[in-house]
Amino acid sequence: MGERLRDKVAIVTGASRGIGAAIAGFMAEEGAKVVLVSRKIDGLQGVAEEIRSHGGDATPIACHVGHRNQREDMLQQALQAYGKVDVLVNNAATNPHFGPMLGIDEAAWDKTFEVNVKGYFGMIQLVAGHLQHRKAKGSLINVASVVGMMGAPMQGVYAMTKSAVISMTRTLAMELGAAGIRVNAIAPGLIETKFAQVLVDNDEIRSSIVNKTALGRVGQPRDIAGGAVFLASDESDYLTGDVMVIDGGWTIT
Ligand SMILES: NC(=O)c1ccc[n+]([C@@H]2O[C@H](COP(=O)([O-])OP(=O)(O)OC[C@H]3O[C@@H](n4cnc5c(N)ncnc54)[C@H](OP(=O)(O)O)[C@@H]3O)[C@@H](O)[C@H]2O)c1
Repeated sequence: MGERLRDKVAIVTGASRGIGAAIAGFMAEEGAKVVLVSRKIDGLQGVAEEIRSHGGDATPIACHVGHRNQREDMLQQALQAYGKVDVLVNNAATNPHFGPMLGIDEAAWDKTFEVNVKGYFGMIQLVAGHLQHRKAKGSLINVASVVGMMGAPMQGVYAMTKSAVISMTRTLAMELGAAGIRVNAIAPGLIETKFAQVLVDNDEIRSSIVNKTALGRVGQPRDIAGGAVFLASDESDYLTGDVMVIDGGWTIT
């Protein structure tokens, strides 16, 4: 067990699998107490057991991040478990529409913005409010995407929400800096998860991305977790408003 996040409590959304599970696992390895959030408790319990089997401390809490009452209940449960929160990782996101942007229906549009923008913003309002109440420093980390920084055919509305996440990261970093609250984003490239299965399993799409990627491979969830641990730790104490691109060199310009 490492010590880089000793005495810190971190909420990680979308922690039942993929990138969120990897971030929560690495944070627990570095001594953080982790609150695992997603809609379905079953997946979270498996991740919590895995973390505990390695000597870590994890509490699973079911919560749809797009719903204000569920977010508020979740924070209360987290505070009951650990008494405070120092770190938030906004990672739970959705992309129900894969296709040309103008073909999206209203329900898919609403769902994408509800989870990816309102959910992220609502979580930050809650956790920043808690930190300000405690007069405590904190680190808020938004998992965005490289598609939020470029044109993204077939994923256009999802990419818009990721641009919004980058915008909120920069403004909140400026507005919360005086309180000692840092706000940064991570922009992953193509990472092999359930979310990206449609891209990873499509030979044409996968090889077109891998061929442009300096490191010549698709990323794994653990490739993102190290960046999140750094942003959560005091090692990044003078870093805020940054968008850390972790994409194996796919989008080097
Ligand atoms: N994979 C990639 O290539 C890639 C690239 C760039 C950025 N990203 C970003 O990385 C993040 C994680 O993606 P991933 O690839 O790890 O996805 P994933 O494997 O599909 O995991 C998504 C997680 O989010 C949870 N979730 C979904 N909707 C939720 C909601 N409304 N409320 C609470 N939890 C919810 C899911 O659990 P439940 O089903 O239990 O809710 C699951 O734990 C996302 O922000 C994604 O946009 C991924």
